[in-house]
Amino acid sequence: MAMGSSWKALLAAVAFLAVLEVGLVSANFSDQCNITWGAPDNAEISDYGNHLKLFLRDNSSGAMVETLKPFIYGSVSTMIKLIEGDSAGSVTTYYTCSDGDFSVHDEIDYEFLGNSSGNPYTIHTNVFADGVGKREMQFKPWFDPTTDYHNYTIFWNPCMIVWYVDSYPIRVFRNHTGLPFPTQRPMYAYSSIWNADDWATQGGRVKANWTLAPFVSEYRDIDLKVCECADGADDKACATTCAKSKYAAEEPCKLTDKEKKEMDAIQLGYTIYDYCVNAKDKAAKDPENAKPVPPECYLEQY
Ligand SMILES: *[C@@H]1O[C@H](CO)[C@@H](O)[C@H](O)[C@H]1NC(C)=O
Ligand SMILES: *[C@@H]1O[C@H](CO)[C@@H](O)[C@H](O)[C@H]1NC(C)=O
Ligand SMILES: *[C@@H]1O[C@H](CO)[C@@H](O)[C@H](O)[C@H]1NC(C)=O
Ligand SMILES: *[C@@H]1O[C@H](CO)[C@@H](O)[C@H](O)[C@H]1NC(C)=O
Ligand SMILES: *[C@@H]1O[C@H](CO)[C@@H](O)[C@H](O)[C@H]1NC(C)=O
Ligand SMILES: *[C@@H]1O[C@H](CO)[C@@H](O)[C@H](O)[C@H]1NC(C)=O
Ligand SMILES: *[C@@H]1O[C@H](CO)[C@@H](O)[C@H](O)[C@H]1NC(C)=O
Repeated sequence: MAMGSSWKALLAAVAFLAVLEVGLVSANFSDQCNITWGAPDNAEISDYGNHLKLFLRDNSSGAMVETLKPFIYGSVSTMIKLIEGDSAGSVTTYYTCSDGDFSVHDEIDYEFLGNSSGNPYTIHTNVFADGVGKREMQFKPWFDPTTDYHNYTIFWNPCMIVWYVDSYPIRVFRNHTGLPFPTQRPMYAYSSIWNADDWATQGGRVKANWTLAPFVSEYRDIDLKVCECADGADDKACATTCAKSKYAAEEPCKLTDKEKKEMDAIQLGYTIYDYCVNAKDKAAKDPENAKPVPPECYLEQY
């Protein structure tokens, strides 16, 4: 008897401690983010800061959240459940971006382009380094991103940027010597929902059906493992500190063989657009008029 009840007491104590520990260590949306557009109507935080909903109600509103602090290197993960049913015309974004002069800015993107019922979302990715962009790759998901939460990660160290979905790498952008790669500008992480029915879905042919509004994307478990810039540090000081941080140093500069196989399988089965393939095709068809193929398209991907 005594044994039984002390076990119960112990279990209760362990459960209580576990809750306490989660309370102490886990980050949440209310602690780490600011709603910079759409509050209070179109952005809602609940469940002790752990559950975020962004609402798209009409063609001119939406919402955006932004991390409070900028960072250089690390990984940003969030569980996201995208708009259910007919999401045509909507875009849900999830990205990092530097402040300041846009013509030389850095940015790492996921954009989730909605679709009509029964048609797949497009997972759009892009990267800007020193203002150089147009590095799009698009995928269709191998799962339904609207019925459950899935884990989207932006990983960034001095060697490479990796886009992970449920811990599978889908894309790598490497730091090739002499080519633009973000190392100097702190970035904030953002997420937003907005109307883009003039272009997003099937080239803009399929519009949002506003009688179905609001359209809602939901978020859980924000996980920032990043080298935050110290309060008051300028970009240069942050770049110097973070270049020496564990986020820059401890991570490998290569995918593992297992990760390479996973990425190859996903790219083979689910890529719907690749800027390198597109540029090479154009150059092959019309060498005189085609734009130059970006140099990294001829270099090792991982
Ligand atoms: C989450 O956010 C709330 C509100 O800002 C805060 O009081 C709390 O300590 C945070 N952490 C957890 C795990 O609830
Ligand atoms: C949050 O965003 C609002 C709107 O842009 C801004 O006025 C406010 O200063 C921000 N708060 C913090 C703590 O950054
Ligand atoms: C947005 O909706 C309003 C009211 O329904 C309409 O008058 C306006 O033309 C729409 N604007 C765009 C850009 O679609
Ligand atoms: C990344 O790029 C910077 C600037 O181009 C370069 O100085 C640095 O050596 C590169 N780092 C790695 C690990 O490749
Ligand atoms: C999401 O994936 C990242 C990278 O694999 C991982 O570190 C993180 O713990 C995952 N988050 C959740 C909630 O599973
Ligand atoms: C929507 O579905 C169509 C038909 O399957 C597909 O061609 C398109 O790439 C999908 N995504 C978007 C954003 O239109
Ligand atoms: C918009 O949604 C309503 C409600 O489900 C439906 O009756 C209508 O047919 C939809 N319109 C279009 C153009 O799909």
